[in-house]
Amino acid sequence: MIVASQWPAYFGPLKNTLYFNTAYFGPSPEMAKGKALQALEREFAPQFRPYEEWLPLPDKLRKKLAIFLKNPNLEAGIFHTSSTSEGHSHLLYSLSWKEGDLAVTIDGEYPSLVLPLMRLKEKKGVEYFLLEKKYQFASPEEIVAALPSKTRYVCLSWVSFATGRVAEVQKLGKLLKERGIFFVVDATQALGGLACPSDLFAPSSGVTALITSTYKWMLGGYGHAFVCFHPEILQEIDSPLFASWTNMQGIREGRLLDYTLASPSVGVSFDNGQPARVLLLALLEGVLDFWEKIDSQEVEDHNKKLAKFFWNEVNKQKFTPTVIEERFLGQIICLKMKSGDSDNFQKRLVEKNIDISVRDGNLRISFHLFNTLKQVHQLLEIFAS
Ligand SMILES: Cc1ncc(COP(=O)(O)O)c(C=O)c1O
Repeated sequence: MIVASQWPAYFGPLKNTLYFNTAYFGPSPEMAKGKALQALEREFAPQFRPYEEWLPLPDKLRKKLAIFLKNPNLEAGIFHTSSTSEGHSHLLYSLSWKEGDLAVTIDGEYPSLVLPLMRLKEKKGVEYFLLEKKYQFASPEEIVAALPSKTRYVCLSWVSFATGRVAEVQKLGKLLKERGIFFVVDATQALGGLACPSDLFAPSSGVTALITSTYKWMLGGYGHAFVCFHPEILQEIDSPLFASWTNMQGIREGRLLDYTLASPSVGVSFDNGQPARVLLLALLEGVLDFWEKIDSQEVEDHNKKLAKFFWNEVNKQKFTPTVIEERFLGQIICLKMKSGDSDNFQKRLVEKNIDISVRDGNLRISFHLFNTLKQVHQLLEIFAS
């Protein structure tokens, strides 16, 4: 295992920067470079490249992702895709919708959750509804009580990109399951920064599926995301809208002309485009090798400790945190400036070699495993001056 004191050393290129911007792009650990470079070199020298060198990659990573989610049984329900938006779209069309069904999310969500609902309405006539923004900071009970009676589907970010609010997804899932409502969690701003609970997909869990882009807190590369269906939903979902040769049952034995829509698993049948994405998956394999040496709960504790320290200490005369109550606090802190312009403030930070982002008018500061308490002190000094 790689112990906490060694974590920053795996992110050498960040050495001279205060990098508090994982909510935008997560850096990959240098340990993953070997696999990524090997794949890149093959791109320039593909001579005598056998299928076995790259075609098994999606399956291999399905296994590793299931381990990352702490439940090897999830492998059969995992598919590779290019983004949260794309994964969300595919899973929406795989659910059976009835006349009058309503799909719901909360105003202020990332567009990857909202736009596919708008398209679903356009294509299939399924209506959608946005709960008022104030429900971003509501308890699971309050959210459920506010749902219109026809609600059949709810999707929500585990951690909000704009405020850093952490939702109680497991509790919300349970309440929604009792009402027969599908529940899809966007874990893009959570997984990796927060640990995956091992019972997220337990039989009693109400999480129908999880979607996540892997290039932020999971430290992978831009252009890969995955969806994980709950094992109990696999028999119910409809086949995908597309078909690719890589979905075919016999391709693993090299049977290219054995045309079939049968796939070895539901997950494989939903792999879309060119799921091997050889360069990206090679990088992701190296990144998941890294995660296998890391205690993800320790990472969550570390990130939350730094975030909470910053949240407590930041100058409240000048900045107002978007999260007021500790129960909503995670590993991202967003701040409104009481006066002045956040874009200008960010520019001043760039001059000091500090990388944060501005979203929805808020300064957004991300705390991940390569950040240290010393860095947080340095950041606080700048925010105080
Ligand atoms: C909550 C959330 N979901 C999804 C995404 C990325 O979406 P996509 O993979 O569709 O680009 C982001 C990016 O910032 C995000 O914050």
